[in-house]
Amino acid sequence: MSKTYKIAVVNGDGIGAEIVPAGVSVLDAIAKKHGFNIEKQSFPFGAGYYRDHGKFMSDDAIETLKKFDAIYFGAVGLPEIDDTLPARDYTFKVRTELKQYVNYRPVKLFSGLKSPLRTKTEKDIDFVVVRENNEGEFVQSGKTFYADDAHGFATDTSVFTRFGIERIAHYSFQLARKRRKKVTNVTKSNTLINSLAYWDRVIAEVAEQYPDVEFSKMYIDNASASFVLRPEVFDVILTTNLFGDILSDLGGAIMGSLGLGGSGNINPEKDFPSMFEPIHGSAPDIAGKNIANPIGQIWSAAIMLDHLGETEAANDIVAGIEATTAEGNLTVDLGGNASTSDIANRIIKHIEAKKLVTA
Ligand code: NAI
Ligand code: MG
Repeated sequence: MSKTYKIAVVNGDGIGAEIVPAGVSVLDAIAKKHGFNIEKQSFPFGAGYYRDHGKFMSDDAIETLKKFDAIYFGAVGLPEIDDTLPARDYTFKVRTELKQYVNYRPVKLFSGLKSPLRTKTEKDIDFVVVRENNEGEFVQSGKTFYADDAHGFATDTSVFTRFGIERIAHYSFQLARKRRKKVTNVTKSNTLINSLAYWDRVIAEVAEQYPDVEFSKMYIDNASASFVLRPEVFDVILTTNLFGDILSDLGGAIMGSLGLGGSGNINPEKDFPSMFEPIHGSAPDIAGKNIANPIGQIWSAAIMLDHLGETEAANDIVAGIEATTAEGNLTVDLGGNASTSDIANRIIKHIEAKKLVTA
């Protein structure tokens, strides 16, 4: 009997309603080709749901989502809804309650795309940002005091635990072993002399257990410049929640568009379902026009299948993306005129045309 994966589909808001169905159509095509089943159930969660129900998801949502093998997600946020709420009430909630402590964000220049870094090629831009996804700067532990007074002030306290640092470090070194065996800890311990000095210390201890992996440390300011000037020095970037959030958008930009970046919020132990989403937001400025780039969403489907153990199917999707960009089929953000659905259909054509190579 062929395998069945239960996938919860959450379009979210804005372009989610266009790019998630595009991704689902690719998933259906790849499942058919590789002989497994995808059982989907959609959930209307997001800022639109908040507008109608006063909350971002139903009260039983987390318990319901736990029953799935994975969550395939677009993005949340709408211009008319308070933008401090989506992260707190949806993304961060799902990521922490389902212990998705790894945020896996690959950066890769697809053939046929011109990076704004004109002289760099596919060989130079191919790394993964591993962002600590459950603690650090985003624990939302803080308060605003006397906001309207002259002496008003506000705090947000970062939390870094040995347990949290060790597990993300182990994940990164093990990932590096499957790649080019290089880990760069991106930090700022020269100024955050308590929290990030501790982060560095615990990572250095873990690094000693992986003598076969080249390990180095780089400050976030230098790392930002290096993304642009010499991206080829990176393989696996291990970094904090805030730094990883910013660096992965920069990674999207050097690929050529934010719309290209895929990601996984991963619970490596598979005790809980992981959630796969593009790195960008809901892009309300271009929603409803069938022009959004679906590649980040489709690449997220590949990362999801890889996590579920369908590695050949995952590679097949990435090859389909690459064949599509290589022939110059591009959406507006990349200077082309193909629509969201054109790109999904083209990728499906390539997937169907390519012979299945079984190991
Ligand atoms: P954004 O990523 O939605 O958009 C930034 C720019 O990139 C826009 O000009 C947009 O048109 C463009 N863009 C993004 N995705 C694209 C795609 N697939 N194809 C072509 N162009 C694309 O970020 P922004 O504008 O800062 O935020 C919009 C909303 O999304 C906000 O409510 C924000 O809170 C939310 N957001 C949600 C995230 C999530 O659910 N994980 C992550 C980031 C933002
Ligand atoms: Mg972000």
